[in-house]
Amino acid sequence: MPRAIYYFSATGNSLSVARHLAQKIGDTTIIAVTKALKDTREQPFDTVGIVYPVYMFGLPQIIEKFLKNINLRPNAYIFSVVTLGGLPGRAHTLAKNILQKRGLKLAAGFSVLMPGNYAPLYEAIPEEKQQGMFREETKKIEAIAEAVLAGKRGIMEEKPLIINYLLYRILYKGGMSLVPSSGKHFWVNQACSKCGLCAKICPVENIQMGKDNPKWLDHCQQCMACLQWCPTESIQYKKKTPGRKRYHHPQISAQDILQQRE
Ligand SMILES: Cc1cc2nc3c(=O)[nH]c(=O)nc-3n(C[C@H](O)[C@H](O)[C@H](O)COP(=O)(O)O)c2cc1C
Ligand code: SF4
Ligand code: SF4
Repeated sequence: MPRAIYYFSATGNSLSVARHLAQKIGDTTIIAVTKALKDTREQPFDTVGIVYPVYMFGLPQIIEKFLKNINLRPNAYIFSVVTLGGLPGRAHTLAKNILQKRGLKLAAGFSVLMPGNYAPLYEAIPEEKQQGMFREETKKIEAIAEAVLAGKRGIMEEKPLIINYLLYRILYKGGMSLVPSSGKHFWVNQACSKCGLCAKICPVENIQMGKDNPKWLDHCQQCMACLQWCPTESIQYKKKTPGRKRYHHPQISAQDILQQRE
């Protein structure tokens, strides 16, 4: 019974979860969402997982596009796994609604707490705390794999709190339309070595390497890959990020993230 896990990841949390889950479930192909978006053929999988980060209490725009376009088998067992820094928001519900409109069913939605990567709001949490989260991640993945292999349905790991809904309304509904143009808020300081990694690692090709400094275009996802992976920590977002400790998952490399595009 062929299985697939599609993933989108900027700083490695979702890729780490996708890999661990694929190992636990077995017989699973891991596919980057960025590549799957170019594939219009029916996907030959009976079990399909989608692993991605929560953005602004909802879905990354690239995941929304993926859910609207991916050609899945009508009877596939589909589950969603979000990685998140604190609050899951309504990502699973949004995913479920998009699939439902296409005659597909989201069987279950799981949430895995990981270190947050939204540098404009906070810096990387201390490494000791990160390690604690990774230990919990291992346990959580075992539980998710068990539920998936048993074909469980109806699990939706979201907090039905009014605050969750209100923040979703304000941040996601109000803020998501501003995300594509948010590239204009990135800038680089003098430490930039012009190595070009930011342009290569951006999963949606939103950075051009000119003769001098990198240039941000107008279809940003605000995923933070460029800022978090820059080897000289030169990339800043508005005035909020200078001096803030950067984060990326310690077991995932820049090369791993680059592969989403190759
Ligand atoms: C634009 C943006 C918005 C985010 N919004 C949320 C959020 O609403 N709730 C939350 O818990 N974490 C939020 N985060 C944190 C990420 O969901 C979390 O760190 C995730 O594990 C990153 O996954 P990745 O390493 O695979 O990119 C946000 C991160 C970014 C970049
Ligand atoms: S990754 Fe950092 S150092 Fe390299 S070109 Fe981009 S901004 Fe400059
Ligand atoms: S420009 Fe930076 S933040 Fe925007 S999508 Fe590319 S890597 Fe992510």
